[in-house]
Amino acid sequence: GTRTIATDTPRRLRSILSLEDFEPAARRVLPRPVYGYVAGGCETDASLAGNRSAFAEWGFVTRVLQGVAQRSQATTLFGKTWSAPFGIAPMGMCALAAYRGDLALAQAAAAANIPMVCSGTGLIALEDVRRANPDAWFQAYVPGETARIEALVERVARAGYGTLVVTADTAVSGNRENHVRVGFSSPLRPSVALAWQGVTHPRWLFGSFLRTLAQHGMPHFENSQATRGAPILSRNAVRDFGARDHLGWEHLGLIRRLWKGQLVVKGILSAADARSARDCGADGLIVSNHGGRQLDGAVSPLRVLPSVVAAVPELPVMMDSGVRRGNDVLKAIALGARFVFIGRPFLYAAAVGGEPGVRHGITLLQQEIHRNMALLGISRLEQMREGRLVPAQGPL
Ligand code: FNR
Repeated sequence: GTRTIATDTPRRLRSILSLEDFEPAARRVLPRPVYGYVAGGCETDASLAGNRSAFAEWGFVTRVLQGVAQRSQATTLFGKTWSAPFGIAPMGMCALAAYRGDLALAQAAAAANIPMVCSGTGLIALEDVRRANPDAWFQAYVPGETARIEALVERVARAGYGTLVVTADTAVSGNRENHVRVGFSSPLRPSVALAWQGVTHPRWLFGSFLRTLAQHGMPHFENSQATRGAPILSRNAVRDFGARDHLGWEHLGLIRRLWKGQLVVKGILSAADARSARDCGADGLIVSNHGGRQLDGAVSPLRVLPSVVAAVPELPVMMDSGVRRGNDVLKAIALGARFVFIGRPFLYAAAVGGEPGVRHGITLLQQEIHRNMALLGISRLEQMREGRLVPAQGPL
């Protein structure tokens, strides 16, 4: 079920009426390099824009008088029933944008009973995220060397995670020109310009960065085997983040042999790769173009979703990239998605309102789904697959 916006909603969240409202609010709070890191795509931002416009290519066909008082958006995935068909996508360096950001996301997801994926490039140790949310998943960038793959899988298992998401669309990093323009680098380089950004964004400086420094010390990369121990702010900013462009499906096969839990491959856009992932023993897929941050011009996941689902009917196929509204979630489900993930808006929510901000965002999205299921005339999400979507334009 869903609640209406409670009167105990913190004041600064009352004007946030949809997930998209978090973005301008976060933009005001965050230093330019940090906001730019979260918001950016790559090169011309064609994929970033296409991820949104793809949803507008579809229109709903409603049914009326269907008796929809008993509707539920609960969704079962990997043997667990979640309260909504969406979760929080893995995002690196969350704790740069929001105070202990990964923990805010993890706790809000736990409270709402939705999945949260801990990033492999996080600044909070994966063990701490898992303690904050025993149902969290862990996302890994596959390390380039066998010994590091073994060490990582062992560490994730020891921490108690049940689901490992392997992100596969990052043979190299995308060309994020905007990082140069906004002064973002990883690690961040100390400079007068960066200090000025801090001074002119006091809520972030005192509420997040200095508070972290005072209570926990300088944040370090905690989860990647290649960068573990590297400080977020460092003069020698060039670090070897590990080469990954030689990785092949045999490396996924190795992970499958080592990892006893659920294995999900993230970053699939083709039916052929979906079949390869299945043949390697993956338990699920996330169709994704990394939120438009990797290959500019990569097709929107929504467009290829039906062909991927058709290629691996035995696997739960999930998607992310550009989901902002309950209606987007419903369209993705109609096109075959079992589950969707959302990135940026939840990190903006954490930056604006901490854990209560993220909970507010989750509630808003649940309310949109709940309301629009009624308007669509469905009680269960599976009914979205019964011809409820048609192309928004052109002859029928
Ligand atoms: C990401 N994404 C990402 N993916 C991943 O597998 N590991 C990671 O560490 C990160 N880091 C990351 C940081 C930030 C700031 C963003 C915005 C995104 C991609 C993420 O998991 C997801 O695929 C997209 O964010 C989904 O698109 P939307 O919802 O942001 O449009």
